Amino acid sequence: MKETLRYLAGIAGPSGYGSKTTADQVVRSSSSSPHHHLTAIITGATSGIGAETARVLAKRGVRLVIPARDWKKAVALKEGIEKENPKAEIILFDIDLSSLASVKRFCTQFLALGLPLNILINNAGIFSQNLEFSEDKIEMTFATNYIGHYLLTEMLIEKMVETAEQTGIHGRIINLSSVIHSWVKRECFTFTQMLNPNKYNATRAYAQSKLANILHAKEISRQLKAKNAKVTINAVHPGIGASTSCYVALSTQAQELSGKYFADCNECICSALANDESGARRLWTQTRALISRRLIADCNECSCSALANDESDARRLCMLTRALIHRRLQHQITTPS
Ligand SMILES: NC(=O)c1ccc[n+]([C@@H]2O[C@H](COP(=O)([O-])OP(=O)(O)OC[C@H]3O[C@@H](n4cnc5c(N)ncnc54)[C@H](OP(=O)(O)O)[C@@H]3O)[C@@H](O)[C@H]2O)c1
Repeated sequence: MKETLRYLAGIAGPSGYGSKTTADQVVRSSSSSPHHHLTAIITGATSGIGAETARVLAKRGVRLVIPARDWKKAVALKEGIEKENPKAEIILFDIDLSSLASVKRFCTQFLALGLPLNILINNAGIFSQNLEFSEDKIEMTFATNYIGHYLLTEMLIEKMVETAEQTGIHGRIINLSSVIHSWVKRECFTFTQMLNPNKYNATRAYAQSKLANILHAKEISRQLKAKNAKVTINAVHPGIGASTSCYVALSTQAQELSGKYFADCNECICSALANDESGARRLWTQTRALISRRLIADCNECSCSALANDESDARRLCMLTRALIHRRLQHQITTPS
């Protein structure tokens, strides 16, 4: 009740910000100097909260890497930001977060550039009205909102740790969750059901994926702390704007906070299920096993062409090659140098 009243009235919390604070205000007061030295990846930046986050970060001089599934929208976003801020540095990539192969391809391409990585905003999200499956045969909401971001984080985290070590600046990962995560009932939160639900309910699938986003942040935070890495990871409920994402990404107040949940630019309490440490570890382990199985499945035995299957041709090629090598070696022995 108190939280709702605070939200409606826009009363500032301990951070000095509240539900009426804009992303521009947060970022302007995060530091007096621009952030030209920072590189951020933002998923789902082609619309909504992601687009506003990208606009505001670019305005503060952050170099943006935008992986997007819709190239036209990505180009329009880039042009829009450059119009407002001609010095903005924006690099576009192709990604479909619901596809493990696509996420892997993007990470390989990004890492090949040799750029530093300070901020990763796992923002993209869908609410799928109907039961659909990804190319990896995973329910689409879970695949896009959680599994894709899990793999993305896994493949980029070492780069973030390395960047933080080299620059002395804390790396920050932000998982976009939702207050709706608290609607999930413990008995419904089973991994196999989330991958392939018996009875599909769109709101439940969305809420489960958002709970998974918080548990992911909690478990990765625990692992990073155990390694003494200077990278933090937090989850946020964005409300309707980009202010909380920008607050956690840039404010000095949030720089060393990790494994927390934020709303309206303030640390908040999440559900008991989202605070379950062993549940977070179990989910992380199950996801890791699933992803390795699916990626290994990519390397499975395949059929080759009829010509490549021709046994007698294979034998003839082998004999001819052997005879050639034999002749060349004989020639070397009999010809004095
Ligand atoms: N808005 C809210 O009130 C609210 C409240 C709580 C939580 N959230 C969370 O905040 C985040 C942003 O929400 P939003 O309202 O700004 O969403 P949105 O306007 O619907 O934008 C979603 C973004 O995700 C991208 N996306 C979706 N599927 C993708 C895929 N397979 N591969 C790559 N990109 C994909 C979309 O790309 P396309 O442009 O190609 O579609 C779009 O850029 C989400 O995680 C959402 O769950 C939002």
